[in-house]
Amino acid sequence: MKDSHGQKLSALFAMALLALGGSLMVLRAVAGPVPSRDQAPLITLGKQLFFDARLSADGKTSCATCHQPDHAYTDNHSVARGVFGLTGTRNTPSLLNVPEDGALFWDGRRERLEEAVLDPLTHPRELAFSDDAKLAALMQSAAYRKPIHDAFGAEPDASEWRSSVGLALAAYVRNLPHPETAFDRYRATHDPSAMSHEAREGLRIFSGKAGCASCHRTDGSSAPFTDHRFHATGTGLQKVAGHLPALTMQAAAIATDGGTVGREIASHDDLAATGRFMVTHQPADVGLFRTPSLRYVAQTAPYMHDGSVATLADAVDQEVYWRGLFSGHPVSLTVSERQALIAFLQALSPGSPATKPTAPPPASP
Ligand code: HEC
Ligand code: HEC
Repeated sequence: MKDSHGQKLSALFAMALLALGGSLMVLRAVAGPVPSRDQAPLITLGKQLFFDARLSADGKTSCATCHQPDHAYTDNHSVARGVFGLTGTRNTPSLLNVPEDGALFWDGRRERLEEAVLDPLTHPRELAFSDDAKLAALMQSAAYRKPIHDAFGAEPDASEWRSSVGLALAAYVRNLPHPETAFDRYRATHDPSAMSHEAREGLRIFSGKAGCASCHRTDGSSAPFTDHRFHATGTGLQKVAGHLPALTMQAAAIATDGGTVGREIASHDDLAATGRFMVTHQPADVGLFRTPSLRYVAQTAPYMHDGSVATLADAVDQEVYWRGLFSGHPVSLTVSERQALIAFLQALSPGSPATKPTAPPPASP
């Protein structure tokens, strides 16, 4: 009796919180900076910000330091290197696969791109450019006067500089050009000559016997190569397995908002290894990570959330091994099936030779 009363009270409390959150969001949406209808000036402003190293504590680092256009907007380091050469704990993901909305970052700690693009500014090991006054001063400098005016029609209020920067960076990231790949051509035309025979064989294995497409999905209008969900991984958790109970207690004491999680995992490898748990505090989420899209994967080495796997061939071997183990249906591939799988993944990047030679398989994973 008492219990159900308590439950009712907490349900009411939750509803009140939701209502409050909802009205705050409406207020924000009404009061926020209003970009001009034409997206082009906003994207131009976003591009200028993306490449501007003055947005960093050392004046030498920009978004493009880690998200390099030549590497499908990754950096080819195992973990990111930001201001003053400081290293983080996570591998830099491609910005060509950013979901429209929903789980952003390896642990899904952000849902809105406009917020996610602002996190690197305050991240102590990325740009560490935390000062709002410095941001406003830069935005009011001669270099930004015209782009800001073009994007917003007028100068944003003092309190709106950050959100304006968020809008512009998000518009730029959303509109990055996506190079066409052999797979895209094959999918659009069903013309067998669009993708090599070996890569087509690889697609069959990927969707069939190897079971990869159950998470790296190839259906839907866009074949996103992810299910936007979180799964266990063969990477990283072993390192902390010895002190997992103490670690999860430590993690559970930390707030779950995106900003706090981002800062806490920035310099704590062990906390970073608990993955989705940091965001939900659900025991079932310990060590879970978002399924990364595999589009452009040949250009984004090294691999996995901690960048611990050096080559695409190694990443494939590791996935074949662990996914088979986790699902209870171990998969064994012949040498040519493995080659075909790799050739298929290479066909998800522009101009990759689908028949590039790869190292022979290891004796055991
Ligand atoms: C020091 C390297 C570094 C810098 C500088 C950097 N990033 Fe990142 N970025 C990362 C890493 C590492 C992650 C993944 C972090 C995680 O998941 O915990 C990431 C993730 C992201 C994501 C989420 C992608 C996804 O698929 O969920 C976006 C968006 C993003 N960065 C945009 C930016 C923008 C915009 C800037 C500049 C304001 C920037 N980044 C600066 C390293 C960097
Ligand atoms: C149960 C869901 C699931 C299945 C099935 C699955 N994957 Fe993955 N895959 C993931 C997750 C989650 C990660 C991220 C793991 C991490 O970062 O530790 C990942 C990572 C990868 C990566 C590294 C990508 C990057 O950018 O770092 C590759 C390559 C890959 N998978 C290929 C495959 C192949 C090939 C198969 C089939 C043999 C497969 N996966 C099956 C969920 C899955």
